[in-house]
Amino acid sequence: MKVEVLEILKSSYAAKNVPKGVFILPLTLLVVVLFLPLIINFHESDSTLYYGGNLESTENYSCNIFSGNWVAYSEGPYYDNENCPFITYKQNCFMHGRPDREFLKWRWKPDECELPLFDAKQFLKLVRGKSMAFVGDSIGRNQMESLLCLLNSVARPEDITGRYTLNDDKYFKWWFYAHYNFTVAILWSPFLVKSSQAYLNDASFSNAENIYVDEADKAWTNHIANFDYVIFSGGQWFFRPLTFYENGSVVGCQKCHNLMTDPLNLYGYRSALRTAFRTVVNLKGFKGMVFLVTHSPNHFENGEWNKGGGCNRTMPITKEESLLLHPYGLEEFYETQVEEFMAAEKEGREKGLRFGLMNITRVMLMRPDGHPHKYGHNLDGNVSINDCVHWCMPGPVDTWNEFLLHIIKMASLQTFTQREVVSTFKKGRKIVKEEICNDEISR
Ligand SMILES: *[C@@H]1O[C@H](CO)[C@@H](O)[C@H](O)[C@H]1NC(C)=O
Ligand SMILES: *[C@@H]1O[C@H](CO)[C@@H](O)[C@H](O)[C@H]1NC(C)=O
Ligand SMILES: *[C@@H]1O[C@H](CO)[C@@H](O)[C@H](O)[C@H]1NC(C)=O
Ligand SMILES: *[C@@H]1O[C@H](CO)[C@@H](O)[C@H](O)[C@H]1NC(C)=O
Ligand SMILES: *[C@@H]1O[C@H](CO)[C@@H](O)[C@H](O)[C@H]1NC(C)=O
Ligand SMILES: *[C@@H]1O[C@H](CO)[C@@H](O)[C@H](O)[C@H]1NC(C)=O
Repeated sequence: MKVEVLEILKSSYAAKNVPKGVFILPLTLLVVVLFLPLIINFHESDSTLYYGGNLESTENYSCNIFSGNWVAYSEGPYYDNENCPFITYKQNCFMHGRPDREFLKWRWKPDECELPLFDAKQFLKLVRGKSMAFVGDSIGRNQMESLLCLLNSVARPEDITGRYTLNDDKYFKWWFYAHYNFTVAILWSPFLVKSSQAYLNDASFSNAENIYVDEADKAWTNHIANFDYVIFSGGQWFFRPLTFYENGSVVGCQKCHNLMTDPLNLYGYRSALRTAFRTVVNLKGFKGMVFLVTHSPNHFENGEWNKGGGCNRTMPITKEESLLLHPYGLEEFYETQVEEFMAAEKEGREKGLRFGLMNITRVMLMRPDGHPHKYGHNLDGNVSINDCVHWCMPGPVDTWNEFLLHIIKMASLQTFTQREVVSTFKKGRKIVKEEICNDEISR
C-alpha cells in the first residue's frame, strides 16, 4: 500500500469548546454505583499522539475522526446478541425484550473522512503477539465486551483468568486468543488509585470512600508493565462522597459528610488521573501505548436517575440537540481528562511512549437511544431504576472499537514511517512519500 502524507499539520485542539451551561439532567452521585456491582501530531522529536486520520484516503491525516455525525446505515450491527456469549447480562438489551432495532442502523461519519468498518481479521493481525488491558470501571468492561463480540466471528478467546488471579471475580478477566497470541484483560479499578473499597460492602451507597489520590491502584499497576496497549476509562465513580488523601493526610473531600448537595470536587479526579498517567509513564519496562477513553455521557430524561428518569428514545439526536444536553459533570470531566491526557502525553513522549485519545464524549452525547433504559434488569429484578449509563450490545458502543482499530492502525503505520516523516518535517513541511509494505499491517 502506498501512503502519501500530503499534509503534516501541527495538532490543534479546542478542549474548551464544550459549551458551558446549565445542567438540565442532574445526576446524583450514586447512579453508576447502583448499576455496577488525529491529527497526527508531528513534534520535533517523536510523534506519539494519535487522533486517527484517514488511512484509506491517504490525504487526510488531519481528519479528526471524532468530529462528525451519525448517519443512517442499513446494514445493521456486526453481531447478534444471541451469538455473542460475552455480553454482560445487564447490557444484553434484546434478551430483556428491547423491542426496537432501528437504533442499530446508524454509523459514525467523521466530517472530513470515512471511519473504516471494523475488520476483525485486520484487528487480530495488528495485535498478534500483543496484549491489551482495559483499566477502569464497567464502562471499560462494556467496551471490552464489545470488542470480544466484534472479534467473535473470527476467533474465540480462552478464559485464562485463573492464571492471574485466584479471585473468581467478574471484575477481573483475562482472555487469550491462542491463534493470534493476543491477550485482552479487564482490570477493575474504578478510581484508578488506591481506595478504601468501602463500596464493596456498602449497600446504602452513601458511605464516603477514601481515595488515596497519589497512590495508583495495585489492581492494575501489578499487571500492566508488559502490556502493549493500556486503555484507561472511567470517572463515573467520582460522583460519590469521597475523601481525598495525599501522603497519608486528608487534603479534601467531595459531598463531605455525605452532604449530597455539595458540588463536584474534581480535585480528586484530576489528581487520580494524573497519578495513573504518571505511574504508567514511569513504570519500569513499560513500552506500551496509552489510551484514554473520555467521559461516557449518560442520558436521563423526564426525571433524575432515581426519580423515574429514563432514556426511551429510539433514534440518535442531532449534534445541535445534543449540545443542549448537559449531563451532570460532563463538561468538567471531559476538560479535566483532556488536560491531564495532554500533560501525560508531553511527559510520555520524551520516553518514546505513544498515546491515543478516544474522544467519544460528544460522539456519544448524540446517542441517548443506545442505553439499556429498562431493558437491562438488575439481577434482583427491580426495574424501577433505568440504566441510562451503560450501553446496549450490540449498539453504538461498538463504534468505540472502530475508533480503537483505526488509531492502532494509524499508529502502526506511522511507527513504520516515523523516522522519514519526522526528518522531512524538520526540513520544512514537505510532501513525504513513503512506501509501506502491505505486510506491515496484514502480517
Ligand atoms: C473531541 O471531539 C469533539 C467533537 O466530537 C471536538 O469538538 C473536540 O475538539 C475534540 N477534542 C479533542 C481534544 O480533540
Ligand atoms: C480531505 O479533507 C478535505 C477537508 O479537509 C475534504 O475536502 C476532502 O474531500 C478530503 N479528501 C478525502 C479523500 O477524503
Ligand atoms: C506471544 O506473545 C508474547 C508477548 O505478548 C511473547 O512473549 C511470546 O513469545 C509469544 N509467543 C509465541 C509463541 O509467539
Ligand atoms: C509525606 O509526609 C512525610 C511526613 O509526614 C514528609 O516527611 C514527606 O516530605 C511528605 N512527602 C511529600 C511528597 O509530601
Ligand atoms: C418516553 O417516556 C416519556 C416519559 O415517560 C413518555 O412521555 C414518552 O411517550 C415515552 N416515549 C416512548 C417512545 O415510549
Ligand atoms: C426497588 O427500587 C425501589 C426504588 O428505589 C426500592 O424502593 C425498592 O426497595 C427496590 N426493591 C428491591 C427488591 O430492591
